[in-house]
Amino acid sequence: MTKKTIMKIAGTGHYLPEKIMTNQDFEKIMDTTDEWIQQRVGIKERRVVGDADQSTSDLATFAAKAAIEDAGINPEDIDAIIIATVTPDMAFPSTAIFVQKNIGAVNAAVFDISAACTGWIYGMTIAEGFIATGKFKNILVIGAEFLTSLADMTDRSTAVLFGDGAGAVVVQPADGESGIMGSYIKSNGELAELLWSYGGGSRVNKRVTDQEKMVDANGNDKRSKIRMEGNKVYKYAVRAMIESAEKAMDDAGINEHQIDVLIPHQANMRIIDAIAERLEMPDDRVIRNLQYLGNSSAATIPIAIDQSRKSGKIKKGDIVLVAAFGGGFTWGGLVIKF
Ligand code: ACO
Repeated sequence: MTKKTIMKIAGTGHYLPEKIMTNQDFEKIMDTTDEWIQQRVGIKERRVVGDADQSTSDLATFAAKAAIEDAGINPEDIDAIIIATVTPDMAFPSTAIFVQKNIGAVNAAVFDISAACTGWIYGMTIAEGFIATGKFKNILVIGAEFLTSLADMTDRSTAVLFGDGAGAVVVQPADGESGIMGSYIKSNGELAELLWSYGGGSRVNKRVTDQEKMVDANGNDKRSKIRMEGNKVYKYAVRAMIESAEKAMDDAGINEHQIDVLIPHQANMRIIDAIAERLEMPDDRVIRNLQYLGNSSAATIPIAIDQSRKSGKIKKGDIVLVAAFGGGFTWGGLVIKF
């Protein structure tokens, strides 16, 4: 291991809502086809919150409990909970506060972070800082999204893309065998308007793109829904994912031939294919769950990590590269030895 390895993943868990929404379900409510969605995006179905009483903190709670059990620790051992989400339960307090209460992590300091689909990677990087200072020893880093709550069900170019779910990891000081070998995070505020949900915050008086047109004839306020310029996002996404992968590998001092498993953010199969091709990764070493889960923003990577560990696709000793991009723009990557 390199000398800068500070933090390891000690346990993983995830949660997916039971309700499945298929492309055929979308065919019934909007002008789209299963064929279009599969060809352009690669999604067949997605998990969606069906229980009116469920919110992001509920999804996160299930994932957190699974990760704590997997790590073999108790909730009281948790020093911090960091939740990456763009769909918090409410403006404040944080979603992490409710997870703390639900799991009984009575000794923890908890907070949320907002970095869209790259949020879990940002959270891991923050956790690494806490571990490096010696301040904390057990940190829950969670990506949790009720992303369909932000989906505009009258906009076929975005609604079909999203899903709900949560993934969690427990991180601890590295043990010399496994851990985060390299990392990279970056942002560019010039691109904020390509992908955002601009209602619901304090920015009520500043004019943003055609605000007054965003309330449709039925009175639906689209300002609080996801607006996206898909084509532009696509182009930046491919570049950002490749940069994230390369910089994280540089930081780790390794190259693509030393990567055993690639876990890209699950947004579009064509974006995943582009990064896999660039890194010359054979298909069987690229994790894809987008077909069944859609894009659950900050949750896609920790969900995929847990599924891959438990199905044996990630084995002890494997070097895993993760890379993501998201609204902001934000982007980043990690190299993790398991
Ligand atoms: N069904 C049928 N037709 C559709 C649909 C649909 N669901 N959506 C769009 N179309 C139509 C468009 O109206 C357009 O029709 P037109 O030519 O008659 O105008 C045509 O298909 C082509 O539209 P494009 O937008 O050019 O399609 P594209 O190939 O770019 O695919 C997509 C759109 C899938 C959104 C793609 O641009 C993409 O994946 N972008 C990146 C998305 C992403 O990764 N977002 C980030 C994550 S979200 C987050 O961070 C919270």
